[in-house]
Amino acid sequence: MARTPFIAGNWKMHKTVQEAEDYIQGLLPRVYSADGVDVAICVPFTALQAMVDSTRGSRVEVFAQNMHEADHGAFTGEVAAPMLTEIDVHGVVLGHSERRQYFNETDKALSYKVLAALDAGLKPILCVGETEEERERGDTERKLRHQVQEGLERLSSDQIAAVTVAYEPIWAIGTGKVATPEQAQDAIAFIRALINDKAPDGAPLSRILYGGSVSPDGAPELLALPDVDGALVGGASLEPESFARIVDAAVQVAAA
Ligand code: 13P
Repeated sequence: MARTPFIAGNWKMHKTVQEAEDYIQGLLPRVYSADGVDVAICVPFTALQAMVDSTRGSRVEVFAQNMHEADHGAFTGEVAAPMLTEIDVHGVVLGHSERRQYFNETDKALSYKVLAALDAGLKPILCVGETEEERERGDTERKLRHQVQEGLERLSSDQIAAVTVAYEPIWAIGTGKVATPEQAQDAIAFIRALINDKAPDGAPLSRILYGGSVSPDGAPELLALPDVDGALVGGASLEPESFARIVDAAVQVAAA
């Protein structure tokens, strides 16, 4: 079964509401005719409401970049799934390597977050990936196995199929150092095999993205790989023009 390509832009901690409004006015006309591709922007909490309002009726979905696993409670500074769905946010990025590295996000907490997101009707993107040292030591598959199996641990097969996984090798994030097509394909095929072990019916439907220094020039080759269903784009998603060129690359691949 064909999987719809998915291009998501992760703004990280960039853009005020005013900057976000300027951006979306530039993006919407550029992706208006991107038929056959799902597009999302993952924006800071403060810009969620404005971006939901400004993208209503368009093909662009709006995702948060994190959430807490509990519905409510004494967790100062956190945001819960019902707070996101109340304002019509579509999905949420979970376990980005920056959250794992700087905010001590654990696989165990993520297993609860993924479940809470699905229960609330949010589309989760679960991020996984190895460090440079892990790759050099030959530990890439061990790391991915651990992150994927723990992250999806609490889900039924049907729920697993609804999770998008983003393979983001940490050494490729923000470095300009893109995984080779072979590295990306091998890691993503491995992730698909892991999903297949847990959800044989779901694996062919699960979308797996590549992330890490994706650029408009490099996107066509990555997006054409058999197991790569799209991209999670950081730096190149911050300008409407470069992000739209990556969406275009996905349109071309989908049409080929
Ligand atoms: P860059 O595209 O800037 O390398 O960031 C990738 C990323 O972390 C997306 O979540």
